Amino acid sequence: MWCRNVLRTRIIGNKPAILACLQCLTNNNLNSVTLKHPVRRLFVSDARECTIGDVIDQWSRRFESEGIPEPVESIEHIVAHVIGTKKIVDILNVRNDPLTASQIEKLESLCECRLSSPCRMPVQYIIGEWDFRDITVKLVPPIFIPRPETEILVDFVLKRLSSSQADSCEILEIGCGSGAISLALAHACKRIKCTAIDANPHACDLTIINRSNLDLTKQVTVIHATLKSDASIEVSSSLNGADNVDLNSKLFDFVISNPPYVPTKQIPELQPEIRIYEDLRALDGGDDGLKVIKPLLKYAAKALKPGGRLFVEVDPTHPEYIQFFTNKYPDLKLYHEHTYKDFCNNDRFVEVVKVI
Ligand SMILES: C[S@@+](CC[C@H](N)C(=O)[O-])C[C@H]1O[C@@H](n2cnc3c(N)ncnc32)[C@H](O)[C@@H]1O
Repeated sequence: MWCRNVLRTRIIGNKPAILACLQCLTNNNLNSVTLKHPVRRLFVSDARECTIGDVIDQWSRRFESEGIPEPVESIEHIVAHVIGTKKIVDILNVRNDPLTASQIEKLESLCECRLSSPCRMPVQYIIGEWDFRDITVKLVPPIFIPRPETEILVDFVLKRLSSSQADSCEILEIGCGSGAISLALAHACKRIKCTAIDANPHACDLTIINRSNLDLTKQVTVIHATLKSDASIEVSSSLNGADNVDLNSKLFDFVISNPPYVPTKQIPELQPEIRIYEDLRALDGGDDGLKVIKPLLKYAAKALKPGGRLFVEVDPTHPEYIQFFTNKYPDLKLYHEHTYKDFCNNDRFVEVVKVI
């Protein structure tokens, strides 16, 4: 196997091994990656006939011995991707099935990415897709990998919507990344029309690809635009016929965002795979983590219809500040209605209402 785009290699024993081939991944070309340097051969390839169960057992042990987080899940996701099944649970039924030589070869090159040192490539980027609620989104580094806790935010929006009789619901998402939130919302409810914006044009491109894969073009508009510190939105380019949306005057039923909220001083403490592979502009919320959240509150005050709601994912230190902020600026007519917990019992989601 040979790669034209190897960015970094490292000598393991006396052989160079791939650390990461971000260029290939960015082009989503991993399936056809050919490697410039021979990849370190691993023990499963020596087997004449290797079953799926053998591969899972051997690679999970290998991952574990090399300190890879979630070793079993990692290899199961990679195997599921290679054999073309989406559900890990299906693998249990095919443990005795053999893998072809080309499947083993592909699997080994993907496992090399997971083993790459000093920083393991996230399995989501290796397989190039990830499930979020009941949709699957394509993922390309360094666009932010949607996290399972963010599904909770989507659930709250859908819950609010289910208690409304309105025929339609206009939602603005600020910072759409791969599009997971907007697309999951639109997929779950035909009444929803989403406008998804992101400051990163590559995130917008990925959202557009995911939107068309999910056949949600009629429900989701994507705009390359930035929420500025003065709480205005600067549009860089409207994509796919979104020219008529004026984001500084249009009113929405809901505004939703999972903005960058990690305080800058905590960025060095993030897991190395996050710091190296994901776009830090998607994570770094400035000194107090509120760099985007403060303008978001002011923007929501202008953009929400009376009775409309802002749903935002935050650092656990932020709900108190948001409550303070809404009390301090009564003219904004915002009311902090609720703070919700994530799976780890941290205060993670805030719901703010635009008072009628
Ligand atoms: C934490 S990621 C969330 C992505 C996606 N919503 C999700 O939950 O998977 C934050 C996103 O906000 C975008 N972003 C950061 N600052 C922004 C700003 N001022 N205006 C618009 N988008 C911004 C980043 O490019 C990134 O895609």
